[in-house]
Amino acid sequence: MKTNSLGLPVKETQVLVAELNILLSNFQVYYQNLRGLHWNIRGKRFFDLHLKFEELYNDSQLKIDMVAERILTLGGTPLHTFEDYTNNSKIKIGKNISNDEVAIQLVITCLSELLKIERVILKQSSEIDDEGTNSMMSDFIKEQEKTLWMMKAWMEEEM
Ligand SMILES: [Fe+2]
Repeated sequence: MKTNSLGLPVKETQVLVAELNILLSNFQVYYQNLRGLHWNIRGKRFFDLHLKFEELYNDSQLKIDMVAERILTLGGTPLHTFEDYTNNSKIKIGKNISNDEVAIQLVITCLSELLKIERVILKQSSEIDDEGTNSMMSDFIKEQEKTLWMMKAWMEEEM
């Protein structure tokens, strides 16, 4: 088995890089969704949610950078154009959302989609003992699952 300078198998690492670029693309769409929610949210919870979406997009921005730099660390090239992101992403795009429940629902939908991709990467990275990618995915999954719980708790408050 041919390995790279990190000691990881060359072929499998390329597969992993491709999947990380898919995650990066979906994350960028999620990030832009959050900017839209931050800007367009209206109603009695404006101050609350305006800030919450800012907190979420700041967190996403950090994660996006971590994914891109992991791709580089693994010898790949991170996608960086809007064109590539839309072509490689299937996450739901939210447009002109001002209603609070629709906004939170979009966050829930997007996080569920990101978690699916991250679990695929988690499996691939664990199969080749790529601990760097694996632990990053573990952290993302753990944090996003907690955010999902909070978002769902918020939704139930209305029922
Ligand atoms: Fe702002």
